[in-house]
This record gives sequence, C-alpha cells and structure tokens, in this order.
Amino acid sequence: MSLIKYHEIKNLDLKTIEKIYIENINPGQVYYYKLLNYHKTLIKKAKGVHLYNQNNEKILDFAGGVGSIGLGHNHPRIIEIRGKFQKEQKHDIGPYFYSQYVAVLSKNLATICPGDLNVVILANVGSEAVEQAIKMVEKYQGPEKSKLIYTKNSFHGRTKGALSITDSKALRNSFRLVEGDLIVDFGNAKQIEQLLSQNKEIGGVVLESIQGGAGVIIPKDGYLKDVRKICDDYGVLLIIDEIQCGFGRTGRLFAFEHDDIIPDIVTLSKSLGGSKASVAATIIRSPIYRQAYKSKKEWYVQMPSTFGGMGEAAVTANEAINILYEEGLIENAEKMGNYFLSKLMVLRDSYPELIKDVRGKGLMIGVEFNDISQTFKPPISTFLSSLDKRLKGSITGFVGSVMLNEFRILVGFTEYNRNVMRLHPPLITKAENIDYFIESFEKILIKGLKGIIYSFIRTKL
Ligand SMILES: Cc1ncc(COP(=O)(O)O)c(C=O)c1O
Repeated sequence: MSLIKYHEIKNLDLKTIEKIYIENINPGQVYYYKLLNYHKTLIKKAKGVHLYNQNNEKILDFAGGVGSIGLGHNHPRIIEIRGKFQKEQKHDIGPYFYSQYVAVLSKNLATICPGDLNVVILANVGSEAVEQAIKMVEKYQGPEKSKLIYTKNSFHGRTKGALSITDSKALRNSFRLVEGDLIVDFGNAKQIEQLLSQNKEIGGVVLESIQGGAGVIIPKDGYLKDVRKICDDYGVLLIIDEIQCGFGRTGRLFAFEHDDIIPDIVTLSKSLGGSKASVAATIIRSPIYRQAYKSKKEWYVQMPSTFGGMGEAAVTANEAINILYEEGLIENAEKMGNYFLSKLMVLRDSYPELIKDVRGKGLMIGVEFNDISQTFKPPISTFLSSLDKRLKGSITGFVGSVMLNEFRILVGFTEYNRNVMRLHPPLITKAENIDYFIESFEKILIKGLKGIIYSFIRTKL
C-alpha cells in the first residue's frame, strides 16, 4: 500500500491530479474546468485578495469562493488565532462538557444580530443550517402547518430538505424530495399572501434577501418588509437565507437590514468561517426557539451534529466577527461596492451590445451579458455548436476564461442564468484591485464579440 504524504503534494502535477479527479472524485468537474479552460491552473498559495498559481503568478480572486472569502485568503489574524489555539493544545471535539468556544461565538452572534435573534445552532455547512431552519418551522408550527413557501430560482443547498426548497431541475434531478412545499415568484409578496389565504398548512416562508444563484437578483425596496408583514398577519415564520449575501457583503451585516426587518430565523455560513473554517449557524428568535422546544429533554437530543461548533472552527468564526467590525469591513464593502458598480455601469453604457445589465449591492455584483446565441455566422457558429449547451449562447464563459488566462482574474458564474458573471470580491478589496479589474475587463470588451471568442480559442490552444 502506497499512501501519499503531505510533503509529496507539492510534487503532484496537473495531469496526476486530473487523473485522481476522473477516477476518485468527479469527472463532471474535469469536464467543466476543461470547457472553461480553468484546468491548467493549480493554486499553490493564497493571500489577501490574491491566489498564486504554479508559476507564482498572482490571480485576483473576485469569485471569492461564492461569498466565502469575505476576509480574503489567510487573514493574518485568523492564522494567528488558529496557530495559538493549536499551540496551546486546546480541544476541538468534546460534546460532554460546555464549550467556552461555542459559548463565545454564540454570544457574539447574538450581540451582532438585530432584535431577539438570540439562539444559535452551530453547524458545518450552509445546507445543514438550512435543514435546522426547516425543522425549527415544523417543530414550532406543528406537523399540520409545516409546509414551506419558497421562491423561483432559489438556491438553499444540496441536502434533501434544502433541495426541496431549491428551484433547480438539474439539482433536484429525480431525487425523492420533501413533498408539498409551494413556489412563488421572487419579489412578489402578493403571491405569498394569496397562497397563505388559501392554505392553512403553510408554516414558513424561505427566501434569500438577494438571490445569488439566480443571477444576483435584488428585489425592490420594501419587498422584505411586505413579506414580513404578511408572515405576521398569517402567523407564519420568515426564514431568511443569508449564507451567500450575509456577513457584511452588501454593506450591512445582513442584506435584510437594507429593508429594516427582523426575520424569525436566519441562516449564515460561508464568510463566517473567516475564509479558513467550515462553519454555519442557524440563528433563531428566542421566543420561537423556546416555544418550539419546550421540554429540556427535547432540547438536548436536538443538539448539533458531531462537528457543529468544533473548537478551532468556533474561535476562527469568532475572530472573523471581531475582524469584520474592527477593520470596518462592512463599511468598506459598501464604499468599494458603490465604486465598483459605478465603474461597471460606465462600461455597460460604453458596450451596450455586450453588456445587458449591471446590478449589485455592496460587493455582491452581477454583470449580465446579452444572449448572443443567434448572432453568429460560420466559422464561429460551427465552433460554438461543438461546445456544451450552457456555453453556446453565452459569452460569460468566454469572458471568464479570457479573464483568467490573459489577465489573471478569477470570476464566478451563476447556477441558473448562464449570461451572468458573478462577482464576490473579498470585503478587504481596495480601489486599486477594482481599477485593475475594470482596466482588464475593458481590454476584453474592446475586442468585441468576435475578438473575445478568438481570444478564448487562443487560450484553449
Ligand atoms: C444562499 C445559499 N444557501 C445555501 C447554500 C448551501 O451552502 P453549502 O454549500 O455550504 O451547503 C448556499 C451555497 O452556495 C447558498 O448560496
């Protein structure tokens, strides 16, 4: 038996890693990385807003782990606290005693959350936090009132409960999911009221404050306020998923704060982990939690999963919260977000044949390209027809590929709208990073449609 050691990892070349992906991980990932021409990059180091590839070239990370890299990579304070925790030989797993680390993180979360959002259940990933929220609705409302309303193009995770309120045919596939949940248009409060007036089995409404996977969709001001009022009128819980848009990204701790509401349950993850640990939290208004779990015995058995609130993860998240406030990162997200959006809007106005829309709040930004599927003639149309369906009509993949391979900028995409480039710059982003992005992006746009595709083809060679 031959096992690979840590010191040998640096010697693994791309071909060997790709082979492992094909044989032992997920060949689908290989297919998409190759399609986008992301498969030639191996990240060797990460620091601040930058990743470093195998040639030690700097890559500006504006994909930001779909919102997970709020503090940037390897924030020095995060590294320090984790080193300290390890050096002092603190314990990570010990479910039989109180954990001072869980206590501190939960207390601080309660302190920064508005209103009586005071009870915290720690978990490992976003989907797990969503599962906790779904169960909380059923426990609070009772089984007869446990159906949920969710929204079109929502994304809440891949576990079965979360998937049952995720509107994606591809992700739902043919899996047997929780039945009976109801779907409405995102941004339409009236539809929620209509369903509630007809159906007494609905106990909760689940929304993202800003839909990420749908293509960075921002509802009109007042939407969340209307939904809050409707939920109150019908005695229904409002669950807000802030896993992607939360933790300061939009210029507020939570994106729902732009509408000045307090949900009954909030889910948080991604950047909460200080860009270094896997942490998630379901935060519940105290009266709801206390009503849902009246008996102490019931409380106990519903404790978090094995690794929910691991020592090092909890102190990492706690340090991340302290950094967020002490470094003024929420304010920076607002300021840099406004700066970035204003520059992107100039590009939108200069290149209307390519860019359809620019939208965002703080540092959660979507750039939507025009769908150009109908506009090509041979030889480009011949080349395009050889590509995957998702790339055929969209230049987003081409732009992303050229961004990475020519300009060393990493951008993201969205699950449901193939024309949208998703940008989640770290909250520590400076104006100079945005300027570099804008200059590079304009160099791509100026090439025009054909030039972009030729550049893409060149990067494939
Ligand atoms: C809004 C939202 N909810 C839930 C999830 C699921 O989180 P995880 O992938 O950590 O399970 C995600 C992940 O992208 C998300 O963006």
